[in-house]
Amino acid sequence: MSQRPNRRQFMRDGITVLGAAAALHGVHTMVHGGPRVPSALEELTVGLIGCGGMGRANLRDFMRAGVRVAALCDPDKRHIERTANEVEKFRKQRNQPVEKFTTHADFRELLDRKDVDCVIVATPDHWHALPTIYACQAGKDVYCEKPISHNIVEGRMMVNAVKRYKRVCQIGTQQRSGAHFQRAIELVKKGAIGEVYMTRTWNLSNEHPDGIGNPPDSDPPPYVDYDLWLGPAPKRPFNKNRFHYTWRWFFDYAAGMVGDWNVHLQDIIHLAMGTFHPISVHASGGKLALRDNRDTPDTLEVTYEFIRPSDGKKFVQVYTMRKFCVDRSQWSPGHGMQFLGTDGVLNLNRGGFEIIPEVRREGKKTVERTEPIKSGGSDQHYPHVVNFLECVRSRGTPRSDIESMHYTTVACHLANISWRVGRKIYWDHKRELCFKDPEHKIPDADANRWLAREYRKPWELPKIEV
Ligand SMILES: NC(=O)c1ccc[n+]([C@@H]2O[C@H](COP(=O)([O-])OP(=O)(O)OC[C@H]3O[C@@H](n4cnc5c(N)ncnc54)[C@H](O)[C@@H]3O)[C@@H](O)[C@H]2O)c1
Repeated sequence: MSQRPNRRQFMRDGITVLGAAAALHGVHTMVHGGPRVPSALEELTVGLIGCGGMGRANLRDFMRAGVRVAALCDPDKRHIERTANEVEKFRKQRNQPVEKFTTHADFRELLDRKDVDCVIVATPDHWHALPTIYACQAGKDVYCEKPISHNIVEGRMMVNAVKRYKRVCQIGTQQRSGAHFQRAIELVKKGAIGEVYMTRTWNLSNEHPDGIGNPPDSDPPPYVDYDLWLGPAPKRPFNKNRFHYTWRWFFDYAAGMVGDWNVHLQDIIHLAMGTFHPISVHASGGKLALRDNRDTPDTLEVTYEFIRPSDGKKFVQVYTMRKFCVDRSQWSPGHGMQFLGTDGVLNLNRGGFEIIPEVRREGKKTVERTEPIKSGGSDQHYPHVVNFLECVRSRGTPRSDIESMHYTTVACHLANISWRVGRKIYWDHKRELCFKDPEHKIPDADANRWLAREYRKPWELPKIEV
C-alpha cells in the first residue's frame, strides 16, 4: 500500500499541526515505518473524550479496526499522557505509519476540529450528555458509553440531538453484539423455554466491611482541571473516592450499581421480551452494610412489572444487587440474567448460556419439556465497535441505538427514583412521567423531581426538539 498521503490525509495533517487547539495544547507526532494494515475503515478519524479505563479500551478496538486517532481529550493530563503512550505503542507493535493527534483538556476544542469524523464519549456518566449533544451539533458521529445519561431528561435531549442532527450514535452496551447473547434472545423469543412470566438480573459481590473506604477530602491533584471534571455536577471538595473510577458510587455523577451494571443486564431482558417500558417499579434497599463514603445503595431489590406486547400479559423482572454477600451456594457468577419459562429456565451471562428444561410426568416416565442447550461465550466489544463504524459509513442504525438505550437507562434510573421516594411508582413512558396510580391520573411530584437536575453554571442542558 502506498505511503503517500491522499488529499484528505494531507489536509487533515495540515489542520492538526496548524490548528489553534493544537497550538494551545501541543501536538504529539509519531513517525513509524512500515505499511498500514489495509482496511475499509482506515479513512475515518476518531477523537477520544475521556481517557480513563473504558476510553482506552474503546480506543484500542477503534485502532484495531484501522481508524486513525485525531485527538485525545481529558482534564487529567496524566490520563492523556498514558493514552498517548498507548496509542504510540499500539502503532509501533503493528508497524503502522505516521499519525498525529492533538490533545485537549476541554472537549469543545476537540469538537471544533473539522477533520474529526466521530468521537468516543467515555467520561463519567454526568459528562455524557453535553459532549454527545455538542458532537451531534458539530456534525460528528458518537460512540457514547452506557448508561447514556445521568438523569432521564438529559437522555431525552440526547435522543433528540441524534435524531435532529441525523447522526449515527452507538451506546457502549456491547453485549448486544455478542453472538451468544443474540442466540439466547432468539431462543426466548421463539418460545424455546415456553411462556416467560418472570426474569431476573443480578450483581453480587462482597466488599464488606470497608468497601471503598473513607479517604479525607484534599486538594485536587495539580495535573487535573477539577472544575472541568465536575462540569455540570455540584461543586464539592475533592475526594479521592469521588474521582476516577469510584465516582460511579456517588449520585452526583452516576446512578450506582443499577446504572453501572444492570443497564447491560436489563437491556438483554428488554430485547428478549420485546419491551423496554416498565409499567411500574418498586425498589427497596439502601446503604445497609458498607462503612465507606459512597452515597448509592449497597443493597437493592427492584421489582419491575411489564406488559408483553405480543399477548398483553404481564411479566415481572427482579433485579438483585448486594455488595456484602455473594451467596456462593446459589449464585454464580457475580452477574447474570435468568429467564423463567413454563418449559425451562435460560441462564445467561457473558461467559455463555444454558437452557435447563422443566419436566413433566408421563405415566412412570419423566419427560423434559424442552431441549437442553448449552453455549459458550462470544466476542462482544470488537464487533460492537465495528458495527458502529460500518454504520458511520452506511448511515445505518447501530445495534445499541440511542433511543432504545435511553429506554433501558430510564428503567435503571426509575429504580433509584422508587428507592428515593420509598414506594412503587407507575411509569408513563409516552409522557416520561411518574404517577402514583396505574391509570396515570395522579402525578407523583416527589418522584418527578428526580427526572432532571439543575446544572452547575455556566453549563446548561440545551432544549432540543425534534
Ligand atoms: N461498556 C462497558 O462495559 C463499560 C465498562 C466500564 C465503564 N464503562 C463506562 O465508561 C465510562 C467511563 O468509565 P471509566 O471506568 O473509564 O471511568 P474513569 O474514571 O476511569 O475514566 C473517565 C475519564 O473521563 C475523564 N473526564 C472527566 N470529565 C471529562 C471531560 N469533561 N472531558 C473529557 N474527559 C473527562 C476523567 O478524567 C477520566 O480520565 C462510564 O460511563 C462507564 O459507565 C463502560
